[in-house]
Amino acid sequence: MTRAIGIIAAAAIILLFATLMIVIMPSMQTQSRSHPSEGLKPYSEQALRGRAVYVSLGCVYCHSQQPRDPAQAPDGIRGWGRPSVPGDYSYDNPHLLGSMRTGPDLLNIGARQPSVDWHLAHLYNPRAMVPGSTMPAYPFLFEVMEEKSASDVELKLPEAFSPGHRLIAKPDALDLVQYLRELDRTYSVKVIPTLDKSAPAATEAQP
Ligand code: HEC
Repeated sequence: MTRAIGIIAAAAIILLFATLMIVIMPSMQTQSRSHPSEGLKPYSEQALRGRAVYVSLGCVYCHSQQPRDPAQAPDGIRGWGRPSVPGDYSYDNPHLLGSMRTGPDLLNIGARQPSVDWHLAHLYNPRAMVPGSTMPAYPFLFEVMEEKSASDVELKLPEAFSPGHRLIAKPDALDLVQYLRELDRTYSVKVIPTLDKSAPAATEAQP
């Protein structure tokens, strides 16, 4: 009988220890790191709707949102911003870090390109704004303008790319562009994680 009690007590202690190490401590660790960076603003309602459009159109398959450490990739030189930190993603659930970089990193696109007109024209036909761009076009985010009302945002395209009729942006396009404009983590942060500086610095584009 005493032996059985000993075995049960030992099993209970092992179970408690395992729960502490595997469940409670990791959860405390992740919670203590989830504070938003100072300077990070929550997304506006419109941007949150735009974020859902970004997800539904699969932008994340070609665009990352995680500028990397200079020891890993020259993202700073490419103009994509400082290496991101966990607090930059406090309002991103789920995060859209991405793993492919067919196009540029977009975590700071709002700071690089704040123009609504530019984004709309680029979404309608990327080639109209960036010659030779391989990004797909999203013409279904626009519709033919019947009568212009005050709230309509007209698409402005270079003459050579004009479809011959006037187009306005659908709500999804405007929400998406607002989301892109709110992607801005250019505030400074106190702790930027650094990697071992003796590691060879990457000089070429890495997907
Ligand atoms: C098949 C890959 C692909 C997909 C999908 C894609 N893009 Fe792109 N994107 C690119 C490439 C390549 C470029 C660089 C050339 C250019 O600027 O058009 C780019 C450039 C951009 C830029 C300009 C970045 C800069 O630094 O100037 C923005 C903004 C952008 N994409 C937004 C989007 C959005 C929003 C979506 C989803 C609706 C999307 N992309 C989907 C490939 C893609």
